Amino acid sequence: MNHILHRHSHSAPPEIARGDGVYLLDTHGKRYLDACGGAAVSCLGHSNQVVKDAIKKQIDDIPFAHTAFFTSGVAEQLAEKLVQDAPPNIDKVYLVTGGSEANETALKLARQYFVEIDEPQRKLFIAREQSYHGNTITTLGIGGNEWRKQTFKPILPAAHLIPPCYAYRHQADGETEQAYAQRSANQLEKKILELGAENVIGFIAEPVVGATMGVVPPAEGYFKRIREICDQYGVLLIADEIMCGMGRCGTKYTCTQENFSPDIITIAKGLGGGYQPIGATLLSKKINDAISSGSGFFQHGHTYLAHPCVCAAALAVQQEIDAHSLIDNVNQQGNKLIEALRSVYAAHPNIGDIRGRGLFIGIEFVEDKISKKPFSPSFALHTHLKKAAMEAGLMIYPGAGTIDGRHGHHALIAPSFIFEDQHIDEFLEKFDVALNGALKQA
Ligand SMILES: Cc1ncc(COP(=O)(O)O)c(C=O)c1O
Repeated sequence: MNHILHRHSHSAPPEIARGDGVYLLDTHGKRYLDACGGAAVSCLGHSNQVVKDAIKKQIDDIPFAHTAFFTSGVAEQLAEKLVQDAPPNIDKVYLVTGGSEANETALKLARQYFVEIDEPQRKLFIAREQSYHGNTITTLGIGGNEWRKQTFKPILPAAHLIPPCYAYRHQADGETEQAYAQRSANQLEKKILELGAENVIGFIAEPVVGATMGVVPPAEGYFKRIREICDQYGVLLIADEIMCGMGRCGTKYTCTQENFSPDIITIAKGLGGGYQPIGATLLSKKINDAISSGSGFFQHGHTYLAHPCVCAAALAVQQEIDAHSLIDNVNQQGNKLIEALRSVYAAHPNIGDIRGRGLFIGIEFVEDKISKKPFSPSFALHTHLKKAAMEAGLMIYPGAGTIDGRHGHHALIAPSFIFEDQHIDEFLEKFDVALNGALKQA
């Protein structure tokens, strides 16, 4: 059986058999502590009975009805719940099957908004270097993930990028965090003016950068200034919370921690916790009003929009999170985990930075702690680390190209919201074994 095009042509991953809370078991019975939720997806672990039952019930009631003909109770309830928890300007939800689709939807909604309000000349998106907004041609093109883009550059739309807000490397000596936040955000204004404000549709950014840089929260005040700039030039602000949202950072929506209201928010991953494939694009009343009082029709659509089984799963996931106050656990266990890592590795010569929010933690590796010099790109630390971790029975999400798409290495830690003290202890033990094993390859 070798007809799957796996992620790597020369190796197949182990075969999964079943899940047990925060553990995954392969067909040989080996247990893996899942400390990254795959890619920050699994927020309820792998065997939540309430969610499984909700999916089974939905299959018995009605597995599928096309949205050109019907709506469903579970889709309506899910949308209501998502809007209730969102910033007050958010009014409507468009339910899709993943993160890239959610961002494609966001880009098309934003474009259509300007067509509806008679500014059809607006056609450009601004994003940040070292960002990731999806793997479709457009979301990949407008984003800043260089290694993912390389092969496809000639067929991608042009990107208009500003530097990320990355205090560990870009905050100057003697500069306060607030001053750095303003300086960094002001690069958006510079880019808007360079492109001509009348041509710019929107700015898209991850409130906490995920896999491309290894969890980078913004400097204080950054997004407040970004919102001001967008308002000043009539540019829409799109928050990509696909990885950092839905409780991962300690609040349902991460933008609320930064005190800003985006025009569009995209979510996925933790929305369905991996129980079903789902993403969503949330839009403001302003955008919805422009469409409903204009053409009255969002020129978009996919076959599996608001799929009932998918919506039933996501609704149950979100209800489970609330019923068990799991976001409180995210904050408590997140604090314990980051403090434990900072204390264990305070003097480690190859750990430059440990950062994060809630149960979303990034570790940046360096060759030299004082100068912050990264390891050579020829040392595949991320590959060695993942291999050593899997051997030790631990799932983490390491990456390379942290700094500029080529230099730097990091690991992303994003366990389930049901992580308990004993899981933190087990994580620390196994991570240390994996780290030592990987660094020996240097
Ligand atoms: C911030 C962000 N946006 C978009 C995506 C794309 O989501 P998907 O892989 O579900 O298409 C991802 C996936 O990792 C992501 O982290």
